[in-house]
Amino acid sequence: MADYKITLLKGDGIGPEIVNQAVKVLNKAAEKFGFTVEYDEALLGGCAIDATGVPLPEETVAKCKASDSVLLGAVGGPKWDNQPGSNRPEAGLLGIRGALGLFANLRPSVIFGPLKSASPIKDEIIGDDMDIMIVRELTGGIYFGQRGREDDAAWDTEKYSVAEVERIARVAFDLAMKRNKKLTSVDKANVLESSRLWRQTVIEVSKDYPEVELNHMYVDNCAMQLVRNPKQFDVIVTSNIFGDILSDEASMIAGSIGMLASASLSGGKLGLYEPIHGSAPDIAGKGIANPLATILSVAMMLRYSLAQPEAAEAIEAAVAKVLENNRTPDIYEEGMNKVTCEQMGDLVCAQL
Ligand code: IPM
Ligand code: MG
Repeated sequence: MADYKITLLKGDGIGPEIVNQAVKVLNKAAEKFGFTVEYDEALLGGCAIDATGVPLPEETVAKCKASDSVLLGAVGGPKWDNQPGSNRPEAGLLGIRGALGLFANLRPSVIFGPLKSASPIKDEIIGDDMDIMIVRELTGGIYFGQRGREDDAAWDTEKYSVAEVERIARVAFDLAMKRNKKLTSVDKANVLESSRLWRQTVIEVSKDYPEVELNHMYVDNCAMQLVRNPKQFDVIVTSNIFGDILSDEASMIAGSIGMLASASLSGGKLGLYEPIHGSAPDIAGKGIANPLATILSVAMMLRYSLAQPEAAEAIEAAVAKVLENNRTPDIYEEGMNKVTCEQMGDLVCAQL
């Protein structure tokens, strides 16, 4: 029996290409650090709709639950745009997050030195060590609230309970304690009742973390502050939808959405790891996708679920080194080697 059992949800579009590269890197890390990994595959998203009629087959949930961790590529594409909302590929993604209880989504936005010039933000604003951790609540809020249609109107509901806010706040405070002890809670408490409860609850939880400097920011201001002065942030904790939006913004500060990894955690060992970008159907099958966000998601898996922190660091260091001379087209700059998705995977393995 292998040390770890990983379920792969390759998904749609560029999903299979990038996951294949990340698996190669994980196997290399296993060899180097002396552990073994066994894989299983399951269907999620559009490929699952094509094969079974639904975006999240029960078999997929069962396989994920029986594994130590899940590695996901991306789901969705124009082919499935005409599916009803509840049967879209994205509904499969929300379904698996809910079914596995993955309430805490960690989205680090880190600038890799060699990529600084790829950021649209001026050098002096980014500084040398921008490192923001966005903690997004992932199984509540408007994504999971009641929705409906009546006549010519439609609605979605943003609802949070104290317990839901409390547990995500604790994850964020715990992370802040291991980092720079600074937490920004982002809400819209000047308008939304759910945000007022959010803020009140975060303040309650903060009493258990006297060393962490807590501040509150309205989401519109935060969107502005992220480009005005990203260095002011350490950990950001926010709701499902605000975290969705702010993490895309933060990813661009770091140079490319093709670079950012994420971890979705349940409080237990089981986690789901995926790049924050989508399935990029326009470049699928061309071999030019950037696999680094998925490779860096493997590093997060090693750190948060598999207790192999040295392997995680080695992968991150290998990625930083490879970026000094090699780029996929999305982050290409004059003078660099332009490489394919597969070559990028090979280079990271060789560096490891
Ligand atoms: C993300 C994505 C998903 C989300 C979509 C694909 C449903 O944008 O993981 O950020 O909104 O959560
Ligand atoms: Mg998103």
